[in-house]
Amino acid sequence: MDYFLVKQLHMSAAALSIVLFIIRAAWSITGNALLQTRVVKIAPHVIDTVLLVCGVILAIMIGPEQPWILTKILLLIVYIVVGTIAIKRGKTPRTRATAALIAVAVFAYIVGVAVNHDSMSWFA
Ligand code: HEM
Repeated sequence: MDYFLVKQLHMSAAALSIVLFIIRAAWSITGNALLQTRVVKIAPHVIDTVLLVCGVILAIMIGPEQPWILTKILLLIVYIVVGTIAIKRGKTPRTRATAALIAVAVFAYIVGVAVNHDSMSWFA
């Protein structure tokens, strides 16, 4: 399997994931019915699966024992949990907006971990 192709897919899925997340979070905060559309509900799962599967393949190819990869996996779980509060589980628009901001910050931190190959992310 071509490493750069998988990496390209991984990065494209990551970009799509955050763009779709921000749109859905905005719709959730404002109570837009478009959020309930079938394609809007399914597409993020497909994209996030591609993101994760490509990440795991890359990790296997370069050796998964590096601490920054574990950091990414853990923070991906945080991104997902906080993300579901922003889009579904948060009871008030204010809670959902706060969760959305935290999720975006976690995502930005993960990108820093990826770019610098360091758990300290942009602070390395
Ligand atoms: C929200 C989650 C994630 C985001 C936003 C993300 C983002 C990125 C980005 C932007 C790169 C390219 C870095 C660069 O070379 O400049 C990358 C590479 C990579 N990611 Fe992820 N990633 C995520 C999740 C994961 C997960 C869960 C894993 C492992 C299971 C993973 C494993 C990797 C690996 C191994 C590379 C290759 C690094 C390299 O060749 O330099 N990623 N990721």
